[in-house]
Amino acid sequence: MGKRFIEGARVPAELVNQKSEKEKQSGGRPPFWEMVFWWTRKPLSGARAIIGASLLPEEITPEEFTTQLRLNEDIPHKYPPLIFSNREFLKYFLGKKMLDPFAGFGCIPLEALRLGLEVTAGELLPTAYIFLKAILEYPAEFGDILVEDVKRWGEWITEKLKEDKEIKELYDEEVAVYVGTWEIKCPHCGKWTPIVGNWWLARVKDSKGKYKRLAYMDYQKTEEGIEIEVIDVNKEVGATENAKVDTNKGEIVIEEKTYKVPAPNINSRREQVICLNCGSVIRFADAEGNHYTDKKEVAKGKREELEFYVKWALKKYHDGDERFARQRLLVKVKPEDGDLIFEKATIEDNKKLGIAKEKVKKLIESGDVDVPSENLWNYSASGGGALSIFIWGFDKFYKLFNPRQLLTLIKITKLIREVGKRAEDEKLKKGWSEEKAFKYSEAIATYLSIALLRYITFNTVTSPIRVDTLFNAIVAGNMSFRGIAMVWNYGEIFPFCSITGSWVKNNEKVINSLQYLTSALSNKPKNIEIIQADATSLNLGEQFDIIVTDPPYADDVPYSELSDFYYVWLKRALSDVEGGKLIPRYHKEAFFKKIGKKYIEIKTQWQEFAKKEVSENAGRFMDLENKQEIAKKHFKNLLTQSFIAMKNHLKDDGVLVTYYAHTSPEAWASLLYAGWKGAKVTITNAFPLTTESTQSIVSRGKLALDTSIVVVWRKIQQEKEKNIHSLREEIIEAVKKRTKELINQGYVGRDVLIGAMARALNIITRYKELYDAKGNLTVEKVLTEYVYPFTAIGIAESLREIAETGEIKKPESLFYLLVKALFGSKEKVTAKKMEKSDIILLRLSTKVDTDKLLSHKVLKKVKEEYKLLEPMTTDTTQLERFLKDERGINFIKLKIRNSLDGLHLMEYYSLKLPASNLRKKWEELKEDFSFELEEAFILAKILAKILPDVDPEKELAESFVRNVEGKEVKPLQQEKMF
Ligand SMILES: C[S@@+](CC[C@H](N)C(=O)[O-])C[C@H]1O[C@@H](n2cnc3c(N)ncnc32)[C@H](O)[C@@H]1O
Ligand SMILES: [Zn+2]
Repeated sequence: MGKRFIEGARVPAELVNQKSEKEKQSGGRPPFWEMVFWWTRKPLSGARAIIGASLLPEEITPEEFTTQLRLNEDIPHKYPPLIFSNREFLKYFLGKKMLDPFAGFGCIPLEALRLGLEVTAGELLPTAYIFLKAILEYPAEFGDILVEDVKRWGEWITEKLKEDKEIKELYDEEVAVYVGTWEIKCPHCGKWTPIVGNWWLARVKDSKGKYKRLAYMDYQKTEEGIEIEVIDVNKEVGATENAKVDTNKGEIVIEEKTYKVPAPNINSRREQVICLNCGSVIRFADAEGNHYTDKKEVAKGKREELEFYVKWALKKYHDGDERFARQRLLVKVKPEDGDLIFEKATIEDNKKLGIAKEKVKKLIESGDVDVPSENLWNYSASGGGALSIFIWGFDKFYKLFNPRQLLTLIKITKLIREVGKRAEDEKLKKGWSEEKAFKYSEAIATYLSIALLRYITFNTVTSPIRVDTLFNAIVAGNMSFRGIAMVWNYGEIFPFCSITGSWVKNNEKVINSLQYLTSALSNKPKNIEIIQADATSLNLGEQFDIIVTDPPYADDVPYSELSDFYYVWLKRALSDVEGGKLIPRYHKEAFFKKIGKKYIEIKTQWQEFAKKEVSENAGRFMDLENKQEIAKKHFKNLLTQSFIAMKNHLKDDGVLVTYYAHTSPEAWASLLYAGWKGAKVTITNAFPLTTESTQSIVSRGKLALDTSIVVVWRKIQQEKEKNIHSLREEIIEAVKKRTKELINQGYVGRDVLIGAMARALNIITRYKELYDAKGNLTVEKVLTEYVYPFTAIGIAESLREIAETGEIKKPESLFYLLVKALFGSKEKVTAKKMEKSDIILLRLSTKVDTDKLLSHKVLKKVKEEYKLLEPMTTDTTQLERFLKDERGINFIKLKIRNSLDGLHLMEYYSLKLPASNLRKKWEELKEDFSFELEEAFILAKILAKILPDVDPEKELAESFVRNVEGKEVKPLQQEKMF
């Protein structure tokens, strides 16, 4: 069983991460990602590197690895790997089989196919299963001809839609986008007030950061109610380059004129709206709709029944009682010579919405099956607000659209169904076999459905207006924030305009994607199998050379519910209708359950699949007591089941690689429970990899999730049990060796930490059970009491060996040393960049708690983050200030509390005092603080050797050591370090 490249210390992680970063920037994104949004997609460069490294032998050089996989190209995924012209390398790939049971949007399988593997991609959710077919199967099977046909049939739909009398009647072809919102009847004055979350229409900067386009809405009170006005600053003053804009105040100042942009009149968090007519505050309603400004106005026991008036009114609206809330268009947007013109929406415009509403009503009353009337979920997601849209009364999927949006989407759905039939007939007439013609028409209908799905995300009452981006992207998709959120002005897009998100633009995106995919998969053997299957109970009856996969993490994304938004439309566009009901046509396994001979329609994924998702979502267990606990256990169980299934599908000499988008200690623990304890597989390596874009995650206010940990596992006969103490030396030695290897290759930070820790994990996971004097150890104990501390000791030992000096004994000193050594930038002086999980890991490793780190002045709390207290300068005045203000050193009554006080003080003295006096000072201080000063000196010796040149503390430590020893510190060349 030869070691693979991925199991050694030479995977060029830094390079791969750089390329993955590139992929997230515009121009670097894989085009097929634009088809439709899916969560937590993995960069293709990383996937390619991991698959390649799992199959190639350890002996190849990093250079060969990089060139063969084209990882040295600017954007690697734009280039096919070279291996096909190199028999030496091809042999490691040809005929090899890979499984990804959590395939999502198929990024890992796509790269596997490009490397010539035989691939099985599985997904629990029907929606993803269909996307996987569109990404992998059809392009590989049909190739280029698909591109032309999808284009042609997309245009056919566009033509039909353009000819549609109702479409002509309902839209104004000059208008690309309508901005709409909700109105509430004010309980004080009885008039309708619009609710506007953002009065801005355009606040666009040029490349130099100057404003090139400024426009906003204002309003007038009239007899008829609130009238919207558009203030187009460019129209009034021409160029706006010199404008000063204060978004907080809502002010534009330009050429001595001040424009006031109204403030939003809703504050959802505070549950309050201000009536634009009478200025009163609208707050709470009871069940009957009585209004209260203060909850205290009702008796104590009844206060819980009060809710935000707007919520109450919207719920009424969705129940069919439209006396308290209604929809309203505020503004229309017309494209003109590359610019956008904003005009207020007229009564006529709003009337059209009313006409559409009548038509939709008729469809619903007649029981038209193409109105997606499935129930929305009615619970929240535990990780955040991703699912909370239901609280505004949206209880059925079709309610997420205004009537004109809905009517248009339904028409397109019906046309896609029609295309399926026509495309099939066309090919049959050309003599294709029935089977092939059917599948081909399925492919065409599937791509057009995906274009429809994209249109759906941009065309709901939850698709926000963007004011600060390019003109052609004035509407954002409603999924871009990893959840569906309420918005108080949304965009409605005319199907045929050239604004991002329109029906015709989406067709272009789908065509682009298809071109990319067919060319990526051209000339490859058709060896892809896509299965709709639960990864926790997989039973394929075959084994794979490698399994590379990316399971979901805890409460990260509620996939079932969010993608239901797609599912209800996909089901319609891809099924047939008979007797007023949906019946199977394409992908019937995705939309129907077969019970006996009958096909029963699956209503939604949240009802059918959510509880099978490997996920920790307490909302799904809302009927149960201790739902939090149950959800946690549920996640752990399912993750374990899936690891067991993966082990069963792995060849004996196969390699299992898992991505895991979390680095907290709890995340490590659940991963080890599932893999090591549950499936009894052994870790052979681990390293961090850049994955998700930070942006989407930060917007949810969660800890940055932009790195995944990649863990490599093997099926190895594990020994029964072991006293963990007997492994101490072996673990520390292994960590030490790996640390040197990693540092030697220029690794820093988390890469060294995780890479070194992998050695410890490798050793412990060779045993089924570990125990110490107190008995068998839980996973948490193994980690916190042994793996982390041994890792820290091993790393510190290797640093100490480099500096040929004594041992660091105090935990806070060890913590400081590790942060300095691992997390410093080689390029510039900056505060240490650590994530919360890194700090936790280091804290656990060095067995020191946060309070102690704060009181010892190792860390300082800055808002929600922690900053390392370190000298950032070689200027004595500034150093003195650092010692006094930050470290709290009292020069008059000198007290040295720990080795770091000693270190920083001596570093300061070594600049301040003449060299001859320094040693004296040290000796003098040692009389009272002997331990602290000795350890300070050891720290200085290590820091002087290992810190990068840009770190000011390097010079300080050098000077301290030089003056005490009376000789120069030998500089250290990176390559010669060991
Ligand atoms: C982190 S995502 C994978 C993303 C994928 N690697 C990509 O690049 O697009 C995890 C996927 O696992 C799927 N999933 C969740 N539970 C599952 C189960 N029990 N069986 C199979 N798939 C499941 C989710 O639907 C989701 O698409
Ligand atoms: Zn009012």
